[in-house]
Amino acid sequence: MHARAVAPATALLGAVALLLPVVDSPAATGVRPALVAHRGASARAPENTLAAVDAAAGLGVAWVENDVQRTRDGELVVVHDESLSRTTDVEEVFPGRSPWKVKDFTAAEIARLDAGSWFAPAFVGTRVPTLTQYLRRVELHHQKLLLEVKNPELYPGIEQQTLKVLGDEGWLDRRHRGRLIVQSFSADSLRAVHDLDPAVTTGLLGRPAVADLPACARFADLINPSHVSLSPEYVSAVHATAGPHGRPLRIFVWTVDDAALARSVAGFGVDGLITDQPDVVRQALASP
Ligand code: G3P
Ligand code: CA
Repeated sequence: MHARAVAPATALLGAVALLLPVVDSPAATGVRPALVAHRGASARAPENTLAAVDAAAGLGVAWVENDVQRTRDGELVVVHDESLSRTTDVEEVFPGRSPWKVKDFTAAEIARLDAGSWFAPAFVGTRVPTLTQYLRRVELHHQKLLLEVKNPELYPGIEQQTLKVLGDEGWLDRRHRGRLIVQSFSADSLRAVHDLDPAVTTGLLGRPAVADLPACARFADLINPSHVSLSPEYVSAVHATAGPHGRPLRIFVWTVDDAALARSVAGFGVDGLITDQPDVVRQALASP
């Protein structure tokens, strides 16, 4: 819990807060800020693959971030872009299917794609994981997950479906809740997640105006902006706002890959740094 001043919460909110798990707060771990491997350790392995999860685990990084979308036949898969072109060999395997959107391919078709050779020869044969496969790998490593619902406007009902998969895999039980944050750039999507399961910790991507923070705090536990145009005053304003569980909003900032930038942003008092280079950032923060 931050020592900063917080708008008074109601007695009811306070009671509810006591019953809810705290998501790996820097104060709880003794580490400030938390490090999140963006799309997995994506400077070391192809982004959003099981290899990137493994790479993050190999670096001893507790948190991984990913991006979830949906195939034509309704499977949730982990991939960042709306199109499969940049991170797979889809143009070679399916040459007549431009613009190669995730939503236009079946899960079986996507499972045939190579999602590693674009990154480095060592990763040839790496696949686009389903969300289920991804969750199981994160669980195997005892990691924590910052799950982004990507492009939700393309996938009606993806919030409910994502929660269903998370629940089926055990990620909504008390033991896991402190290891999970669901985030999105879409306020509507995040509000839907919160309404469907208010106990899930949620993060709103972007930088809402300070005047809008109380409205965001009805459904978001974190505000996760780009480091660009971030200021200590903005971080303080976020921390001074109570979230839906009666605790101060927290702030995870992306994408911080440079040592000097990491030191600067950490000095603002942010709670998390989302980075492609967690080893570089960790080293930077260890030796100011
Ligand atoms: O977690 C923050 C970051 O992932 C948001 O941007 O485009 O990498 O999904 P993007
Ligand atoms: Ca993302």
